[in-house]
Amino acid sequence: MDLLKKMILDKGHVIDENILKVDSFINHQVDSKLMEEIGLEFYNYFKKVNITKVFTIESSGIAPALMTSYNLNVPMIILKKQTSSILNDDIYQTQVKSFTKNTTYNLTLSKEYISKDDQILIIDDFLANGEAAKGAIELVENAGAKVVGIGIVIEKSFQPGRKFLDDLGYDVYSLARIKSLKENKIKFVD
Ligand code: G4P
Repeated sequence: MDLLKKMILDKGHVIDENILKVDSFINHQVDSKLMEEIGLEFYNYFKKVNITKVFTIESSGIAPALMTSYNLNVPMIILKKQTSSILNDDIYQTQVKSFTKNTTYNLTLSKEYISKDDQILIIDDFLANGEAAKGAIELVENAGAKVVGIGIVIEKSFQPGRKFLDDLGYDVYSLARIKSLKENKIKFVD
């Protein structure tokens, strides 16, 4: 997606060879025009698939997921990050480890917002190691529902997440695919 790539080049900051900071338009300040374009782009790619709900992981996935769900005319559900494990019959929960932030959280979904007939599109801002996506997939599968697509705003293709999801056979659509952040330079996959 050209607008996104331009903004990454103009406003993104390479922190080190693994981390790209995009606080000024995605993670802290949010560019709503960009989010509108992102929503349309995901809609155009996934519109032929029967999608009943868009899932995302709090918090930075919410803006692109909301714009996508708006265009698809289906609800968006935010998977919550709980610090503690809760034993409760009303929720699905799975533990996710973030390698980037070196944290662990319990991804949580109320059973009220999913049924076995749901066809889920997962949207998130970054794909790094694929742990968040893996957790989201697990919650959907626990409910007997199906993940029919995964939309990612920025994929760091040099990290293992993409291959992990490809190997599982998911249709992954990433709007910007970063090949390398080495030597303070942002290089995209051709
Ligand atoms: P994974 O899900 O693909 O395994 O990624 P990982 O756990 O390693 O990433 C954890 C958090 O770090 C996620 O945010 C993710 O968006 C963020 N992240 C990963 N790589 C980058 C990067 O290069 N730049 C930036 N800005 N963020 C990165 P989170 O903890 O879910 O926080 P939130 O921003 O959604 O609240």
